[in-house]
Amino acid sequence: NYYAVIMAGGIGSRFWPVSTKELPKQFHDMLGTGQTLLQKTFSRLNALMPSENIYILTNERYLSLTLQQLPEISEKQVVLEPAMRNTAPCILLSALKIKKENPDALMLVAPSDHWIEDEAAFATDVQACFDAAQRDDRLVTLGIAPTFPNTGYGYIESEKEGHSPIKKVRQFREKPDYETAKQFLAEGNFVWNAGIFIWSVKSIIRSFEKNMPIMHALFSEGNPVYNTSEEASFISKNYPLSENISIDYGILEKAENVYVKQATFDWNDLGTWGALHDKLSKDSHENAVVRAIPNLKDAHGNMIYTETQKLVVVEGIDDYIIVDKENVLLIFPKKKEQDIKTLLNEVGTKF
Ligand code: GDD
Ligand code: MG
Repeated sequence: NYYAVIMAGGIGSRFWPVSTKELPKQFHDMLGTGQTLLQKTFSRLNALMPSENIYILTNERYLSLTLQQLPEISEKQVVLEPAMRNTAPCILLSALKIKKENPDALMLVAPSDHWIEDEAAFATDVQACFDAAQRDDRLVTLGIAPTFPNTGYGYIESEKEGHSPIKKVRQFREKPDYETAKQFLAEGNFVWNAGIFIWSVKSIIRSFEKNMPIMHALFSEGNPVYNTSEEASFISKNYPLSENISIDYGILEKAENVYVKQATFDWNDLGTWGALHDKLSKDSHENAVVRAIPNLKDAHGNMIYTETQKLVVVEGIDDYIIVDKENVLLIFPKKKEQDIKTLLNEVGTKF
């Protein structure tokens, strides 16, 4: 009864110039391991369930790329979104689809672009969440011990009492402001939302019905038979009419049956070049290098990335992002990495 959906529709704009609208980061081998982030995510989940139970949610334009990178899946496992409407509608759509195939399905939702190295610990944690979601009407999420007041994450306050590893959530707050995040950290019983969710298809659909009735009606009323051309035209007609909202704001902040399991694995959402630098192994001067053949002197803390193997000579530069791809060369201070998103709007649209 185990199913998974991998969300692979984002653009990863802070990883420009490597991540582009044509080829977002999840389709790249960002870690230099020989596998793309999507392929790594897929194999991590494939250890828990058969490959035919893993669905990929992505935009229409990435269909052939997805099938090319995951030859083990069939086209019906790729749920195509005709428009970008954030994560709530695509999760509801896939839950409804999986329920048609198996009404008792338990479903894991995972981003396609995270770094998780300890796959055994991941599998154990997920198994515990599946068990909990099987027993009761629960929406379970994985929590990460926070290390600083990051305002880009969701924060989860769990109940203090009890020894159960899966705790009831008191409040879920998506992307609080800095002061609030600082306060949450000081309180001690808050964790970050890893963006990995486990629930039964029945529970999540029921929660949509209660908390987002308009979206629920849009996708369920008149939803035709599984995997037919009628279903495809139903989606292309209704999907663009959906509200543009994430599952975090739409469901998790409102639902009363949210539970959290603190993850026992090390996690990073690989949101920026700096995060990638953090997670890669580094030379004795803290330089991280993907694919390049480095020749470095008096260079510290740099993130050096080339798309093909290439000699990179650097001298006298510290804490820079140096990225080389066929038609773009980026040399950018790591401390300003958040600004890469704006760069994309200024110069990136053509590249
Ligand atoms: N298929 C599809 N369609 N996927 C999407 C879409 C969409 O329209 N929008 C986003 N995604 C994918 C992204 O590619 C990513 O893998 C995942 O959904 C989450 O979206 P993000 O845009 O990266 O969300 P976020 O980083 O702002 O916040 C979420 O993740 C944090 C942890 O990384 C929230 O769940 C936070 O609460 C959480 O802390
Ligand atoms: Mg993210």
